[in-house]
Amino acid sequence: MAHHHGLLSPSLPTTPTASHSQIHTSLSSSSTPAMASVALGGAAAATSTRCLLPSARASLSLSRSSPSSLKCLGLGSSPLISHLFLSRKASPMACSSSRGFAAAPKCAASDPEQLKLAKEDIKELLKTKFCHPILVRLGWHDSGTYNKNIEEWPQRGGANGSLRFEIELKHAANAGLVNALKLIQPIKDKYSGVTYADLFQLASASAVEDAGGPKIPMKYGRVDVSAPEQCPEEGRLPDAGPPSPADHLREVFYRMGLNDKEIVALSGAHTLGRSRPERSGWGKPETKYTKEGPGAPGGQSWTAQWLKFDNSYFKDIKEKRDEDLLVLPTDAALFEDPSFKVFAEKYAEDQEAFFKDYAEAHAKLSNLGARFDPPEGIVIDDGAQSVPEKFVAAKYSSGKD
Ligand code: HEM
Repeated sequence: MAHHHGLLSPSLPTTPTASHSQIHTSLSSSSTPAMASVALGGAAAATSTRCLLPSARASLSLSRSSPSSLKCLGLGSSPLISHLFLSRKASPMACSSSRGFAAAPKCAASDPEQLKLAKEDIKELLKTKFCHPILVRLGWHDSGTYNKNIEEWPQRGGANGSLRFEIELKHAANAGLVNALKLIQPIKDKYSGVTYADLFQLASASAVEDAGGPKIPMKYGRVDVSAPEQCPEEGRLPDAGPPSPADHLREVFYRMGLNDKEIVALSGAHTLGRSRPERSGWGKPETKYTKEGPGAPGGQSWTAQWLKFDNSYFKDIKEKRDEDLLVLPTDAALFEDPSFKVFAEKYAEDQEAFFKDYAEAHAKLSNLGARFDPPEGIVIDDGAQSVPEKFVAAKYSSGKD
């Protein structure tokens, strides 16, 4: 593979098997669906409305203390991490409620209160594991399979939680992402009223925000696919080293309905994280910036402070001055292609412009292919512009200035 630049680390893509050996294939653990229908406080079930929730595990919990919201919660997931049930089938969950109550019953893909609580747990996880980058990659790889030319859900791919299934995690592009799933599975187990599709996107957006990035205008309520047969075929995500990187990026991202500006802005997510030869085949085994972690040490980052979300990615891939920093062929294309270059130059100069475009593009990416219930989605923020906490994670990056 000829690379015009020493920073491209052309270790040939390896077959990513190591991480897959860690997948627990609890194939036999297909859950028995508990089809639940509930009458609130003794209200007549005869007047109930029903809706189907394709949540991963089906059972229903009811809180008498909050009669205004009928909670469609799935409980009873195994607390054992060994039950990653990557291949477990989900069952449609029946949820019924009485029309007789003052407030309209809520029956959505995810429960708003649980979404908020799950967000708090994700923040805790980020504090202890510094797993911001891999959670961003998890969200992107669930949604990035979207094909705008296919109308049917879930055949069209996108943010539908299909990435939890082993068959999709085994796609070469997803090497290593089983580790992200392991990190958030306990949160899924705790809040089974949150769909996988939502949890992946919630984790990603929260990671960007927590790393000092922009607040992303997210909505929730994504419905999960229920079986591995609904996973997209392999090959919808971009390659890092195709023969013609700019053409390849356009082919893949245009298929998702995204444009040049969005391609460049979203590539800026590589301000976070590292590439590992044993996963993707790209990057050095370790550099001065990664040899001490945090998290599992090693890999090659695009930026020195790879837990800090800022515009340094654009500065670094433009300058290509540091042998220890990664520039993939698809990264380099952003300053080589005349149309991409306009945006890449702007973002290298102007972090505010990058943050604004990134936040919009990330929100759009997170919605690709998703089926929302309710159709308008669920907003869990209070609308107030969050004041980002003073960023601390970056100080754990080694080798910084
Ligand atoms: C433009 C096409 C893209 C290509 C070819 C690409 C390729 C890659 C590769 C090869 C890795 C290294 C994976 C590993 O070895 O563990 C990686 C990591 C990463 N990618 Fe991308 N990527 C692209 C776009 C994106 C987008 C759109 C996002 C998010 C919006 C993103 C977010 C990330 C993050 C955060 C990591 C670091 C993961 C970690 O440290 O574990 N990438 N990408």
